[in-house]
Order: sequence, then structure tokens, then C-alpha cells
Amino acid sequence: MTQIDTLDAVLSARFSCRAFRPDPVPRADIERILATAQKVPSWCNAQPWQVIVTAGAETDRFRDALYAAASRTAPAPDMPWPDGYPGIYGTRRRACGFQLYDAVGIEKGDRAASARQMMENYRLFGAPHVAIVTSPAVLGPYGAMDTGGFVTAFCLAAQALGVATIPQAAIAAQAPFVRAHFDIAEDRHILCAISMGYADPDHPANSFRTDRATVADVMEWKE
Ligand SMILES: Cc1cc2nc3c(=O)[nH]c(=O)nc-3n(C[C@H](O)[C@H](O)[C@H](O)COP(=O)(O)O)c2cc1C
Repeated sequence: MTQIDTLDAVLSARFSCRAFRPDPVPRADIERILATAQKVPSWCNAQPWQVIVTAGAETDRFRDALYAAASRTAPAPDMPWPDGYPGIYGTRRRACGFQLYDAVGIEKGDRAASARQMMENYRLFGAPHVAIVTSPAVLGPYGAMDTGGFVTAFCLAAQALGVATIPQAAIAAQAPFVRAHFDIAEDRHILCAISMGYADPDHPANSFRTDRATVADVMEWKE
């Protein structure tokens, strides 16, 4: 297999896992994932990301407290959410939402059921571990860009070890709670979380795969 085939195979196998088995991932495997993800490029090699990783009882303490906080608190992310997803971006956003709802049997327009499914974010979809990903506030969108590359590499490295992941902006939306829970310094932005563990392959939430635009859709070739 060539390197591009190997890379493509890992990218093709990865998906956002929304139902995990409870079995823990060995700490050595999580450290291996981080060591591999560390190899991404960043502007002037600043490597601005920091990660808090939970295991065992600490994951459950966080899960329970997060679920309670999200049940009573409106979203308040450190980095403001986009004002909207216009045009094709909104179309793609709705398409992946409907794929999830179809998979788990939620009828279009059933707001109560979709809200319940959304709240599964705050149960970490049953994952035994979560990584909280932060970047220095002073680096602004450039720190976030570097950290986004790290998040992608993290998910791919995990996949390569058979560990399923899901990046979650929903958890960053509870930034004041997350900051207080983990005593995260005010000068860092909480950008997202990554829940991880072994996928439950039989759960309907894991039964669909999202589409991608074609190369022609995204590349303008000039010569
Ligand atoms: C930065 C980021 C934040 C995300 N936040 C959430 C989230 O809060 N909840 C969720 O269910 N999925 C979340 N996702 C997963 C996306 O919905 C998913 O990546 C996208 O639909 C493509 O599907 P795939 O990851 O299965 O290929 C997030 C993904 C990224 C990269």
C-alpha cells in the first residue's frame, strides 16, 4: 500500500461516533494518539493547543455535572458561533442532521426528540474518555486554526489505533461550566471537546456516513 492509500484508508474509516462502549482505552494508547497528533504543522511551530483528558470516575463526574449544567444553561462559547450557515453550508448542515435523525428514528419536526438527541452530547455519547481542547485567547483565530489541524490529526491517529472519536463544539458551548470544572485559565479559549472510546457498532447513531463535496466543487484550477 502506498502512503496515500494508507492515509486515505484511515480518513475513510473515521466517522463521528455517537454511541460508545464503556470499555476504557489504555492510557498508553491515548498518549500514542497525542504523540502522533503533535506532528501537525502550526504557524511558527507555536503548537498552541493544550488538552485535558479524563478517564474512569473523572469522566463520569464531568459527564454528570455537564449534563446538569447544559440542562439549565444557555450556550456561551468562548469563541462566538457563526451568525449563520448560508446557502450550501446550511444545506450540508441540515443534510447531516437529517441523516442522524433518520438513523435514530426521529421524525422531521419532532423538536422534543431532536432536543433529547442533542443532549446526548452532554452524556459524551457514553464515551469513557473526553479530551477538552484549548488554545491561548491571544492567538485568536490563528490559534484556533492550528488547533483545528491538531483535532483532525487526533481523530485520525485515534482511528488508526481502532479508537473512535467525535469532536464536539456542543461542549465548548458550555465554556463557563467547563472552565470552572477543570479550573482552566481565563486566558485560554475552550475550542471543543473530543469524546473517545470504542464504537458501539450496532447502535443506529453509528449507522450512517456523511457525504463530501467533490474536488471540482472545492478547487479552482488556474494556469
Ligand atoms: C470542530 C467540530 C465540532 C463538532 N461538534 C459536534 C457536536 O457538538 N456534536 C455532534 O454531534 N457532532 C459534532 N461534530 C461532528 C460533525 O457533525 C461531523 O464531523 C460532520 O457531520 C461530518 O461527519 P463525520 O465526522 O462522521 O465524517 C463536530 C465536528 C467538528 C470538526
